[in-house]
Amino acid sequence: MPKISHKGQQMPESPIRKLVPYADIAKKKGNKVYHLNIGQPDIKTPEVAMNSIKNLDIKVLEYSHSAGFESYRNKLSQYYINHGLPINVADIIITTGGSEALLFAMGSTMDQGDEVIIPEPFYANYNGFAVSSGVKVIPVISTIDTGFAFEKLISPKTKAILICNPGNPTGYLYSEEEIQQLAALVKKHDLFLIADEVYREFTYDGDKHYSVMNIPGLEENAIMIDSVSKRYSMCGARIGCIVSKNKELMATAMKFAQARLSPPTFAQIASEAALDTPQSYFDEVISEYRERRDILIEELNKIEGVKVAKPKGAFYCIAQLPVDNADKFAQWLLESYDLNGETVMVAPAAGFYSTPGVGLNEVRIAYVLKKEDLIRSVQILKDAIRVYNSKS
Ligand SMILES: Cc1ncc(COP(=O)(O)O)c(C=O)c1O
Repeated sequence: MPKISHKGQQMPESPIRKLVPYADIAKKKGNKVYHLNIGQPDIKTPEVAMNSIKNLDIKVLEYSHSAGFESYRNKLSQYYINHGLPINVADIIITTGGSEALLFAMGSTMDQGDEVIIPEPFYANYNGFAVSSGVKVIPVISTIDTGFAFEKLISPKTKAILICNPGNPTGYLYSEEEIQQLAALVKKHDLFLIADEVYREFTYDGDKHYSVMNIPGLEENAIMIDSVSKRYSMCGARIGCIVSKNKELMATAMKFAQARLSPPTFAQIASEAALDTPQSYFDEVISEYRERRDILIEELNKIEGVKVAKPKGAFYCIAQLPVDNADKFAQWLLESYDLNGETVMVAPAAGFYSTPGVGLNEVRIAYVLKKEDLIRSVQILKDAIRVYNSKS
């Protein structure tokens, strides 16, 4: 039989999606499943975006430019400028989601065996992108007080530091001081600083987001990853972008962009139109997420043995549960448990770490559901923990 590649064997399953077959079984049994596992918001996509594609009269669905529609890149540049980020059209390549932008960033900055330092827990698919790119992830545990924790991990093979700000899965928001420290560190060691800023708008309590694109002197090092998925609740559009002022980097990323021809045409039209979304949409969405966060954290804290930190941004948290193994527990929730015909699906957190054996009793919870559903989900979780622990 022909052999599967080593790379293919090393490719991790997504902890967010690997339990889907069990959720399907639970649903077939007639159980309702509350999805706390995935960052698929239930927030409506802005009308301006949906209306823009409703009555299109396109005779030939053509490829677009490999960098994306010029009109979209122009308008996007203006959007960034309006938000205080000095980003020109030439600094932007439109991609098929932030996911492809991350692949282009790794492909353009790292060779086989090179290393990227990533604070963990991190967005689980970074592991998959790293395997695809032949790159080794060097995890740095938890948050940073100084650049030192990063610095001692830098080796001759280190090419980049990758941060997610605000963070999925922790909701961690980097302060200006921390971004400045990282900037000084990457400059000192001549590294790239890749910042996944797809949750930029989602900060709460008046905290401000600091972008790597806003640091004078970091132009050659900074790469920003962005996406329409969360900002406009347009995950299915599959539109994102890679942004940098480093011309050589962008010319390299462009070669990857040319190889895959172009980003999706319809979705670019919708994403361009989405830039006209009124500020009132964001104000409502952010206040809704803040309320959801507050309710979720308050309810989780009522469960004995649960530990959770209050996220400052994005819409996720990592919760430590009083169970022996979160993987087993998450599967059991779908396979063998229900409370009056209802159960919850969570993402076991071990897949968000690259250090083996860490996060085994943690889950990631996304607060993308309505408040009453979140409250009900936590009630179910509380009962499930009791039943699970009493059965063994
Ligand atoms: C931190 C982070 N980066 C990137 C992505 C990928 O987003 P996209 O839908 O734009 O590919 C996600 C999706 O959940 C994410 O959470």
